[in-house]
Amino acid sequence: MPLVPRFMVHRVASRYVAGETMADALATVADLNAKGAMATLDVLGEEVTERSRAEEGVKEYLKLLEAIHQQGLKANISVKPTMLGLKIDEGFCRDNLERLVQAAAQRDRFVCIDMEDRSTTDATLRLFRDLLERHGHVGTVLQAYMRRTLKDIGELPPEGANIRLCKGIYVEPVADSWKGYETVRHNFVAALDKLFRQGVYVGIATHDEFLLSAAEALIDRHGLAPHQYEFQMLLGVTEELRDILIARGHRLRVYVPYGPDWYPYSKRRMRENPEIALHVIRATLFGR
Ligand code: FDA
Repeated sequence: MPLVPRFMVHRVASRYVAGETMADALATVADLNAKGAMATLDVLGEEVTERSRAEEGVKEYLKLLEAIHQQGLKANISVKPTMLGLKIDEGFCRDNLERLVQAAAQRDRFVCIDMEDRSTTDATLRLFRDLLERHGHVGTVLQAYMRRTLKDIGELPPEGANIRLCKGIYVEPVADSWKGYETVRHNFVAALDKLFRQGVYVGIATHDEFLLSAAEALIDRHGLAPHQYEFQMLLGVTEELRDILIARGHRLRVYVPYGPDWYPYSKRRMRENPEIALHVIRATLFGR
């Protein structure tokens, strides 16, 4: 990965990122809505170390919430705590997040606090609990590869939790995370079952066919109606599966990132699927 030149990562980014501007992202959401999918919009950026950068992020999200509202789009927002200054100061990050949650609540929208690496897990869950208690309209993410996840589910607030469950994308030490592909799947299913048992609204965020079928079986076993959960997928990934889930009557939300800060996000997506990097390199070098 470190050897892949930036311009090639940019070509890959065009598959996973809606564009550099808000207008690009809103056009993508309108298109998804027309195809029966909802969206969650992410302004790209993370690991911010200057307060001014975090404040710029807040301003962009506030404008975005207003634009979603004005255009009547079926969309929420997803936010990374380190973009809003978690690594600078937790109180500063909480104030920034609170402004977004309040603005979302006024427009009957929702903020999902993305989960980053393990250095942020405790703080992210604290922020989530605090804002849920005071404003509602907020959820967060749990990662099936983390050994702590079943315990974290047991400690979720009894009312109103809205949790996106995904495998997890950061590189974590074995002491904290399950490593085997099948082990992570197993923990995903156990976590989803526990979330459903606790009555949590879950965003089932995966493109893994095995997990999609396991999720359908759990939805059936728990007797859930389509408004009690949703599936979630990333922009540019397994579009055919996405359409199939919609046709089967499930709610489906697509994660739509945008902004000039596309580099780290796109690198993570390429690491996840190195074949794509190879296709791009081949197309760039050999025109096919
Ligand atoms: P897996 O990686 O095994 O992929 C299953 C299949 O999907 C692959 O075989 C391939 O066909 C396809 N696929 C997967 N990734 C692809 C890619 N990049 N390009 C092309 N095809 C691909 N993580 C996290 O740590 N914190 C978070 O907040 C979030 N948020 C989030 C939101 C949403 C809506 C989704 C879908 C995912 C996340 N993730 C995340 C990422 C998540 O943890 C995980 O890394 C990816 O979803 C890939 O895992 P799968 O479950 O899809 O399985």
